[in-house]
Amino acid sequence: MSAQNSIRRLTAPYIRSLKGGSPIVSLTAYHAHTARIIDPYVDFMLVGDSLGMVMHGFESTVPVPLDLMIMHGAAVVRGSTRALVVVDMPFGSYEESKEIAFRNAARVMKETGCGAIKLEGGSRMAETIQYLTERGIPVMGHVGLTPQAVNVMGGFKTQGRHKEEWAAILKDAKDVSEAGAFSMVVEGVAEPLAAKITKEVSVPTIGIGASKDCDGQILVLEDMLGLSPRVPKFVKEFGQIGASIEGAVELYAKEVRARTFPSKDEVYEMLDEGASKGTEKKSARKKR
Ligand code: KIV
Repeated sequence: MSAQNSIRRLTAPYIRSLKGGSPIVSLTAYHAHTARIIDPYVDFMLVGDSLGMVMHGFESTVPVPLDLMIMHGAAVVRGSTRALVVVDMPFGSYEESKEIAFRNAARVMKETGCGAIKLEGGSRMAETIQYLTERGIPVMGHVGLTPQAVNVMGGFKTQGRHKEEWAAILKDAKDVSEAGAFSMVVEGVAEPLAAKITKEVSVPTIGIGASKDCDGQILVLEDMLGLSPRVPKFVKEFGQIGASIEGAVELYAKEVRARTFPSKDEVYEMLDEGASKGTEKKSARKKR
């Protein structure tokens, strides 16, 4: 019991309680160091299977294996202390049956220490969402454009731009909510449909390419930092880290070729024969 008192992370029920309140802030994270940087600013961070495309150069999220999600998920948990960490279930790890979904989701939670999992799909996943939730696994849903279905959709296609598509997408969202998901990502849907879903479901909607009226927003961190060479229309570049990395690498290459790096500050001098170890001059910079 005493260990429970030390749990300070935001929880899935807390995120659930934010419905209709001030907007929920979230980003993806794939590494310990970016998790540490974003931790104070986000309510939850998602270890998204988009890491397959962003980090590993796959054309889609379909090839991403469960072990890779677990490895990145554990790194993000180690790098953060405050935000809820949600880990994506990759394609093929949960669709076959609710029992297989439970086995794999339990592995993700045990081996990463995350607080919730996310899975894609609407009405067809409702039974699985209920099964997992009843057995101690908080589930975030994902409706609208579901990237793992790219081969069925024939591309990453925006959803709900024709009125006749609305009823099915709305039903997906309601079924996910009623099955017990604590919130859901609404991705790549026409703006007025995203607003309507948000109004009609009882759990928070997290928009990406959706609407400012969603209960929260999420972006892929590398996309909003300007690191991804190609991004969808819904991405706003809040930073230009790609250009900054290139500038630093260009300068490094120039200094190595000019033999100006490493300088005296970055090499180890000999110690005086008589000096004790404790007298070694300390650098003002924090270095290992
Ligand atoms: O994998 C991912 O990054 C996601 C976000 C797009 C929500 O699912």
